Amino acid sequence: MQNTEIVQIGRCVGEEVRIGGWVYNTRSSGKIFFLIVRDGTGLMQCIVEKSSVPQEVFECAGRLTQESSLEITGIVREDKRAPGGYELSVTGITVIQIADKYPITPKEHGMPFLMDHRHLWLRSSRQHSILRIRAGLVRYIREFFDNRGFVCCDTPIFTPNACEGTTTLFETDYFGDRAFLTQSGQLYNEATAAAFRKVYCFGPTFRAEKSKTRRHLIEFWMVEPEVAFADLDDIMQLAEDFTVEIVGRTLESYRDLLVDVLERDVSMLERIQPPFPRISYDEAAERLKSKGVDFEYGGDFGGNDETVLSEEFDRPFFVHRFPSAIKAFYMEPDPGNPDLSLSVDMLAPEGYGEIIGGGQRIHDRELLERRLDEHGLPRKAFGWYLDLRRYGTFPHAGFGLGVERMLAYICGISHVRETIPFPRLLNRLSP
Ligand code: 4AD
Ligand code: MG
Repeated sequence: MQNTEIVQIGRCVGEEVRIGGWVYNTRSSGKIFFLIVRDGTGLMQCIVEKSSVPQEVFECAGRLTQESSLEITGIVREDKRAPGGYELSVTGITVIQIADKYPITPKEHGMPFLMDHRHLWLRSSRQHSILRIRAGLVRYIREFFDNRGFVCCDTPIFTPNACEGTTTLFETDYFGDRAFLTQSGQLYNEATAAAFRKVYCFGPTFRAEKSKTRRHLIEFWMVEPEVAFADLDDIMQLAEDFTVEIVGRTLESYRDLLVDVLERDVSMLERIQPPFPRISYDEAAERLKSKGVDFEYGGDFGGNDETVLSEEFDRPFFVHRFPSAIKAFYMEPDPGNPDLSLSVDMLAPEGYGEIIGGGQRIHDRELLERRLDEHGLPRKAFGWYLDLRRYGTFPHAGFGLGVERMLAYICGISHVRETIPFPRLLNRLSP
């Protein structure tokens, strides 16, 4: 008899197979048990009929509790009414464990309870779908860059210097020295871009942000491309092409999960087509003012400002040329107005806000040194970074995409905590 996965069951119609899995649900009508078994690849209805199995198999089915683990054997039948289109006429059951009373039941549980049981909650169909889509999204992200000749260069997690401001650094002891968990791989990307021209890094990043919003994680995954001899316009174009492709491929592959399980209005995703609107920070500030929002020119957009701005658009859009004063030290000034920077954010509609941040980098060494001083950053720790402006400096630009924010937007879920297997939040380090 062959072992099979539920996702492959269509190849085994009429055959007797063995499936290892967990009991998702049970229901009985006296003479028949309907077991829904999940094996991680899918759900399968398994029918245990009193009249056609040995007495002990039928009794065994009656003892199964939610999430009991077992190996079940049976004949595969096609059945249009069954979930997935197939069912199993059970011939035997080997119990591995009768599970203790499972804490997560079909009734409503509060979010803190579910988050405390995240290690189990992952088995539920909604969470399972979100994380399956995440795995696909990550694959499409990598393929986008790999197929365009970008070289994947991993960047370190322990770093000696800040990248995105000193207020959100996680400090750790590094054999008596001070180290920080990385906020972004960008500075290292700038070095690898000089070696390989087009590069990207993809890994976890850390922000000690005391924000409890639905958009903030303490630990999140960021993909960051960096391109030598690219400017702000080039990088906006890249971000647009990238977004159109990764959302399009995710929608193509996971439409069923998005529609049936997550109840996403996929017409919102179908609209994600080029060109994306591009507005300047000044224009965005004007728009907020004209809508009666109490926004002070010169400041950064808050969550509400982003939501109001995005109401006018049916697809992601760019806001470019933010004031230098509110952006990171490395942003190239706008030649037309040195108080502005060649920076860009891509914002998603439906209240999702910023999902990409990036821009063109300063390549003049003296200006970069001045900026380090202005930001109170020690030149010594940035010695290697300044070297990039000493040995063949070059114009370059790049961006970072937060995977969890993009996934929340694609899946239409309101909080990023459900988009990563084990979220790290302000008040949560467990499980
Ligand atoms: O805008 P950020 O801070 O940009 C950078 O780190 C640049 N160094 C990237 C680059 O140019 N290479 O972060 C980029 C993106 C944001 O747009 C957002 O999607 C995500 O990272 N992000 C977060 N996601 C979840 N939780 C947080 N606390 C996040 N902070 C940023
Ligand atoms: Mg940003």
